[in-house]
Amino acid sequence: MIFTDRAKTVLEIRYLLKNEKGEPIENPEQLFQRVSSYIAQAEKIYKKNSFEWEEKFHELISSLRFLPNSPALMNAGKPKAQLAACFVLPIEDSIESIFKTLKDAALILQSGGGTGFNFSSLRPKGDVVRSTGGVASGPVSFMKIFDKASDIIKQGGARRGANMGVLRVDHPDIFEFIRIKRIESLSNFNISVAVTDSFMEALFKNDYFPLINPRTKEVVRKVKAKDIFDEIVESAWETGDPGVIFIDTINRSNPTPHIGQIDSTNPCGEQPLLPYEACILGSLNLSKYVKEGKIDFERLEHDVKTATRFLDDAIDVTHYPVPEVEKMHKGNRKIGLGIMGWADCLVELGIPYNHKKALALAEQVMQFISEKSHKASQELAQERGVFPNFKGSVWEKKGIPMRNATTTTIAPTGTISIIADCSSGIEPYFLLAYKQRILDTEFEIINKYLIEIAQKQGFYSEDFINQLRQKGTLRGMKEVPLRIKRLFKTALEITPEEHIQMQASFQKYTDNAVSKTINLSQRTRKEDVARIFILAYKKGLKGITIFRYGSKRGTLLKISDAH
Ligand code: CDP
Repeated sequence: MIFTDRAKTVLEIRYLLKNEKGEPIENPEQLFQRVSSYIAQAEKIYKKNSFEWEEKFHELISSLRFLPNSPALMNAGKPKAQLAACFVLPIEDSIESIFKTLKDAALILQSGGGTGFNFSSLRPKGDVVRSTGGVASGPVSFMKIFDKASDIIKQGGARRGANMGVLRVDHPDIFEFIRIKRIESLSNFNISVAVTDSFMEALFKNDYFPLINPRTKEVVRKVKAKDIFDEIVESAWETGDPGVIFIDTINRSNPTPHIGQIDSTNPCGEQPLLPYEACILGSLNLSKYVKEGKIDFERLEHDVKTATRFLDDAIDVTHYPVPEVEKMHKGNRKIGLGIMGWADCLVELGIPYNHKKALALAEQVMQFISEKSHKASQELAQERGVFPNFKGSVWEKKGIPMRNATTTTIAPTGTISIIADCSSGIEPYFLLAYKQRILDTEFEIINKYLIEIAQKQGFYSEDFINQLRQKGTLRGMKEVPLRIKRLFKTALEITPEEHIQMQASFQKYTDNAVSKTINLSQRTRKEDVARIFILAYKKGLKGITIFRYGSKRGTLLKISDAH
């Protein structure tokens, strides 16, 4: 197995099993063996040959064509093998509920999972508290408790856990929520406003919009929808937060509305979930599927099938830290198969990221993965039965027996793309040369495809590499042919519209959602941000996150960190 030095370091720090002295007791080869063999244990439940599947899983992951999300790599085979990356927990308007969820969240965070919470049921700041005769502190105050607790728990954990805080756009404390990241770092939270269709209609009509007390259901006051929207734009422009989730769009594709409404996503936004639901993700490395200038769809189909089975098996051998989550996840059996290495794949095919051929290919590839994973899930249903909440689900109405309520999600793949040495998720390259510090070691990463092409085409030189180190892009380099410059456009050279179109092309064939940061240049204006949010809604995206280069960033966990 060939790993880059950076991958070896990441594996050693976070993934390899260690003894009590903190020394690794396995190598990367043994890690993949441990993961494959542990997941394949699930086959025994269905009276299948676990060795046969262990070998298939091992071949798939050790070739770096597919990797499951980090908790699966870290925890498989441990006594508390928690394998899922994504969770959502409920918060009701009582001290009991808030602190039960805080405890559950602590256990999830400790296991390497990230949790989303919707704080909208909490009565607004200043509202009455009957039991004490006092006044309520409001959702934002409680978020701060969750943030502080995360700070302390993560000090003992293997990876920085993340949270998503959501507030509905009609909550009376919405302005305080939107502004919070401009005032406080709240560094363990990404935040998102859950925007409704009726809000967007009010915005388009320049109408007033009612803010409602969730406790009394009464309208507290009416404000111009534009005032709320402008506040979102202002904060996002300044800090990258909040993002927006289009909650009605999300619920229109909720596969199990009879089980509940979706009110939040996981921390990076790619996984809408019901309260107490979890999801295990895994990503195919598309850079490994280019053969003779084309995508090898035959091999892809074969691997989608194996990966779908891997993720379904993972549910049965996961140790759930919270019993309610086990019940919900085993009821819907959601899995999220996606891709990484998209920018690499396009370079290998010679297609610029912002060319219409890239958008068409995105749709074709994702439609293919979606169809084949649905087919694999149907075959699993024949073998193992449909997911327990199938009756009453959207799948039942369509007459399609499924083992999993969803099968596809596009994750950021922040760490697993480093392990697989590919570009992350569906993002374009952020820079073609950059430095990354991992603990005490500094790594220099220069795009490997660019080096190869530069050598082949004869523009490789010491001077070329030095210029690249300085700029990180090919802009202004006379010796580089225009065709190559187009092929290696970086995130900030791609227009926001083009970023959104790519996200939309993938979303069209993704059951869950798509993780994507719309990277913007520093000089992007607030009007542009407003336009981008509206375009995202009109394109049917489930959510949007922007990041303006050079703006203040409170949260450390953003996709662009991974580039
Ligand atoms: O590459 P890796 O499997 O480590 O994770 P990712 O694809 O970057 O992120 C997938 C999900 O894992 C995120 O949306 C979070 O739910 C969770 N996560 C987290 O809780 N804490 C982190 N530091 C990274 C990811």
